[in-house]
Amino acid sequence: MHYKKILLALVFMSFLFNCKEVDKLTKEVLIIPQPLEQTINKGEFILNASTGIDYDENFKISAEFLKSYIEEGSKLKLQENNTISFIKDDGLTDEGYTLEISPNNIKIKAKTDQGAFYAVQSLRQLLPPEFENGTFEENEIAIPSVTIKDKPQFSYRGMHLDVGRHMFSVDFIKKYIDALAMLKMNTFHWHLTEDQGWRIEIKKYPKLQEVAAYRNETLIGHYNDQPHQFDDNQYGGYYTQEEVKAIVAYAQSRFVTVIPEIELPGHSQAAIAAYPELGCTGVQVEVATKWGVFEDIYCPKEETFAFLEDVLDEVLALFPSEYIHIGGDEAPKIRWNNCEHCQALIKKEGLKGEHELQSYFISKIEKHLNSKGRQIIGWDEILEGGLAPNATVMSWRGINGAIEAAKQHHNVVMTPTSHCYFDYYQSENENEPIAIGGFLPLEKVYSFNPIPEELTQEEAKYVLGAQGNIWTEYMKTSEHVEYMAFPRILAMSEVVWSKPENKSYPDFVKRVEDFHKRLDALNINYANHLYEIEGKLVSNDKRLSFELSNTSNNNHIAYSIDGKEPVYLLYPEYEKPITVDKSMTIKAATFNSNGKQLSSIFSQSINLHKAVGKTITINKEPHKSYPGSGANGLVNGILGSDSRYGGKEWLGFWGDDIEITIDLGVETEINSIKTRFHNGNGQWIYAPTEIEFEFENETKHLKIPESKDNLVNIALYVKVKTRIITLKIANYGTIPEGKQGDGNKAWTFIDEIIIN
Ligand code: ACM
Ligand code: ZN
Repeated sequence: MHYKKILLALVFMSFLFNCKEVDKLTKEVLIIPQPLEQTINKGEFILNASTGIDYDENFKISAEFLKSYIEEGSKLKLQENNTISFIKDDGLTDEGYTLEISPNNIKIKAKTDQGAFYAVQSLRQLLPPEFENGTFEENEIAIPSVTIKDKPQFSYRGMHLDVGRHMFSVDFIKKYIDALAMLKMNTFHWHLTEDQGWRIEIKKYPKLQEVAAYRNETLIGHYNDQPHQFDDNQYGGYYTQEEVKAIVAYAQSRFVTVIPEIELPGHSQAAIAAYPELGCTGVQVEVATKWGVFEDIYCPKEETFAFLEDVLDEVLALFPSEYIHIGGDEAPKIRWNNCEHCQALIKKEGLKGEHELQSYFISKIEKHLNSKGRQIIGWDEILEGGLAPNATVMSWRGINGAIEAAKQHHNVVMTPTSHCYFDYYQSENENEPIAIGGFLPLEKVYSFNPIPEELTQEEAKYVLGAQGNIWTEYMKTSEHVEYMAFPRILAMSEVVWSKPENKSYPDFVKRVEDFHKRLDALNINYANHLYEIEGKLVSNDKRLSFELSNTSNNNHIAYSIDGKEPVYLLYPEYEKPITVDKSMTIKAATFNSNGKQLSSIFSQSINLHKAVGKTITINKEPHKSYPGSGANGLVNGILGSDSRYGGKEWLGFWGDDIEITIDLGVETEINSIKTRFHNGNGQWIYAPTEIEFEFENETKHLKIPESKDNLVNIALYVKVKTRIITLKIANYGTIPEGKQGDGNKAWTFIDEIIIN
């Protein structure tokens, strides 16, 4: 029977393919970021040995890029004729272009070489991916006739890279810049100094190279894993000024501006380790070996400003960018609080405390940079204590910093953690490489609108654009950086380039799938979660069923309920939610039409205990950062992760005593109630010490002994008949002295409540 089905499918597929053969005119134009306007016309341009290129000095960079892209990508050599021509059009915007491909020629129109460069990037994406790595072997290639009129929505289209926590080769930095340019991004924010390492050669201060560039060891595993363990390997290095110059020049040849970041006054422990006199105490500290926020920050004294001005002067000589990033984030004020000099300075300058001292610090640096014709950008903490007169704000702790700055008529760049932190997890899959935390899937990046709703149209003009950030605490290799950057950078490129009305996530996903081949050819290690299966138990009129989905719309899901791994066509294809009428394990995977498995095997056990799908209420909402899938998630038959407490199944409450009521609908005989709590004390999470169970006619107490385990399982064995069950779970209380977060309220994290 199955074989008949296969045969039918094959016949049908070949019919479809034949239709496509005839229909050559509608060849798809799949470009990322989505252009402003594209019109597909009849016919196609044939690129072959007689194709030539014609350009003048105005378009030297873009035309030469195209010439070498074609010649290095294939066996073709371009002639000197005007089949491909570059034409100056002063009616266009600086970064805009028109790309007209017709059967006889290709016309690239732009006002600037940069605009033409973006036309070339679009044309590049109309050529087969084999051009990316020089493996195109044919004598000719057809390019669809299309007219593209394009320009960006935002002038700042950026990606950041932290080389302080881990550093990467010059070749990799160039590869990263290449990727930005391909996606029409124009800014590389290079985070060069950190507590854990100073990465730029400053000739006047050799100890920055000798001391600040190296740490003695590095934390192993996640910061939250206690106790901390270290690898015992010295780690470090720095980019020489010659290397920096080469990178800046390389970026210029791709219309990417490199903005260097020299952190101040915080995240400066490495510099203070090299020159202890820059700190408040003068005490020798070491280059940091673990992640986090450190208390030793620059002391605002004359010799510190002299040092920073010298450093910045060398930086200015290397980086022509208008903007210099001066950090400004996460600077604890405890040293300033206890420093005689700092306190005297606060008095002398008539400042209201340490926040205004930070503002004084930043303003002094700004004055120096302004005097050299440059502008500062800083993280949103630079708003605290008053913004320096000309500063641009990079809003990362949400969007409030951006709103505040724009209302004060300061420029802003959007990098809120919620949508722009590519160091966060991109999938809930347990096999993801270790990450700092959080959850930022592709779709969420794609959904980002850089203009906060709170701004008027006038204020919105201060939003220059947005940027994806890559902090590398947990990324030791460039392959891992690529994995975190791709495909989220594709989404970000569209956020900053494309018109919101032109954005469509399903359409984007289709283009991402097509783009995979290009990324493969470019040897870029991208993450692919498009085929990953997601499951969800749904209760409809007391009938339970299980929904399966993936992000890609083009493929097939096959599933099994016999415990075996499903195989396409031998197992049922998922068409509608699977009925759940007993405890079962559902396994599923995504397959293409040829039966090739595209995803890992999804496996979900559903324990159909007596409370599943029943009415549940909790007297408190879970914390908005850890809502799981709401109260129903506690009686959906599905356990959360053993190792991670985020995700859909765990509910987190901060400091609240909670009361959970389950209504079984009818009086039911009960033998046991089981649940489990997360107990990650390093993250302020504590299992409760006691639970009270209330049934209709009796109450039971359960004492829970203190435990060092990350998971605390509890079980109450009873023999009662009841319809209503209430669990009163008192919060652990205040975190005891000597523990992480002592003095704060503890979190309670609870998983499935299993009733049998
Ligand atoms: C930051 O993530 N500390 C700017
Ligand atoms: Zn001080």
